[in-house]
Amino acid sequence: MSDTIITAPADEPRVPEIHKGLAGVVVDRTAVSKVDAASNSLLYRGYPVQQLAAGRDIEDVAYLLLFGELPTPTQRAEFDEEVRAARPLAPGLHHLIDLIPTSAHPMDVVRTAVGALGAAMPEPQRSPGVFDADETRHRAARLFGVLPAIIAYDQRRRRDLPPVPPRDDLGYSADFLHQVFDREPDELEIDVFDTSMVLYAEHSFNASTFTARVIASTLSDLHSSIVGAIGALKGPLHGGANEAALELLTTVGDASNVDPWLDDALARREKLMGFGHRVYKNGDSRVPTMEAALGRLLDRARASSGSEAGRVGRLADTYDALQAAVLERKNLKPNVDYPSGLAYHLLGFETSVFTPLFVASRVLGWSAHVIEQREANSLIRPLSEYEGPGLRDVPAGG
Ligand code: ACO
Repeated sequence: MSDTIITAPADEPRVPEIHKGLAGVVVDRTAVSKVDAASNSLLYRGYPVQQLAAGRDIEDVAYLLLFGELPTPTQRAEFDEEVRAARPLAPGLHHLIDLIPTSAHPMDVVRTAVGALGAAMPEPQRSPGVFDADETRHRAARLFGVLPAIIAYDQRRRRDLPPVPPRDDLGYSADFLHQVFDREPDELEIDVFDTSMVLYAEHSFNASTFTARVIASTLSDLHSSIVGAIGALKGPLHGGANEAALELLTTVGDASNVDPWLDDALARREKLMGFGHRVYKNGDSRVPTMEAALGRLLDRARASSGSEAGRVGRLADTYDALQAAVLERKNLKPNVDYPSGLAYHLLGFETSVFTPLFVASRVLGWSAHVIEQREANSLIRPLSEYEGPGLRDVPAGG
């Protein structure tokens, strides 16, 4: 035996390919939705989202995302019954929400309430990793049913107003608006709100959905996945952009301010909220449908008499001028948060509740992805390239 120490040949240092932000990386397959940037299209289980928004309500879309097909009339009636039965807030949840200071962002309230619901109804697991997909679908349907009450309760307590109990005779969107505003909404309001819910329901492997799938891949429970997804959605580069986009419009204030404001913002290399998208580089497929819905609200507000028409007209002109200027100067198009932010404002919502409204709808996509992840699971655990200090000894003493 030789006592020569055998060392590995000195290879060229390996340079791993790093995909910052996982940009361009395909991490798995999905049958839930298809985002096609080249054709600017979005399909939910094969159906164009524009057709779904025009011809179906959010309950049909919820069923489609969770169960894989649009419901038959009988399936729809059973689904309605289940979702409507889940609408009222359990008394314990009122108390829990009351403990959270109203200085907290409404997203933090929703995240806490969903976490508490998960604690109150632990998920049955037959053995590690063996989940009942159908049980998870129904669990998700009940979460979809109760989210409006969580959001509306929090909105109303912030204004010292009593809660409005859900109404069994109203569809999802009408009841949601009714619980927040304590009045029966008209057809236009219901239509616009429902359109936003349909457009927000699902969008493949975005940051929050990927978060939900990462959590599901550890064999954790549905509610933990949704809580994590809510945290990811809150950020202004993702769902939080609908709030930031409206703030942007009100900060700019008037179409005549757009150019000087944009000069400053671009000089400071500021992110323009509600513009740009990781996948769509030539416009967001959801924008034309959301802008058409917004246009109907704007037309009605402009036709009204008094100062409100003037205020809304100014906002609308700022919206158009900013969109045109950002396209000209940065070649960036708006994403769905740009028109939805203004639409939610015109519907009467406070700005800080815009992202929770997104949660109410996206819970459907997240849940569908959790089920899909579980059905063909592989723990999501990427690698990293270490670039810290080399091996060194801990110095003596302390
Ligand atoms: N404002 C200013 N510059 C932008 C914006 C923007 N909104 N979006 C992209 N850019 C710039 C980038 O800074 C970058 O410039 P550089 O090359 O000089 O550094 C260039 O355009 C290319 O950026 P991308 O690589 O396309 O950006 P990325 O894919 O990382 O970002 C993102 C996508 C995060 C959505 C970005 O467009 C953004 O921050 N937008 C504002 C936030 C927003 O509206 N988010 C909502 C997304 S949709 C949704 O969640 C429903």
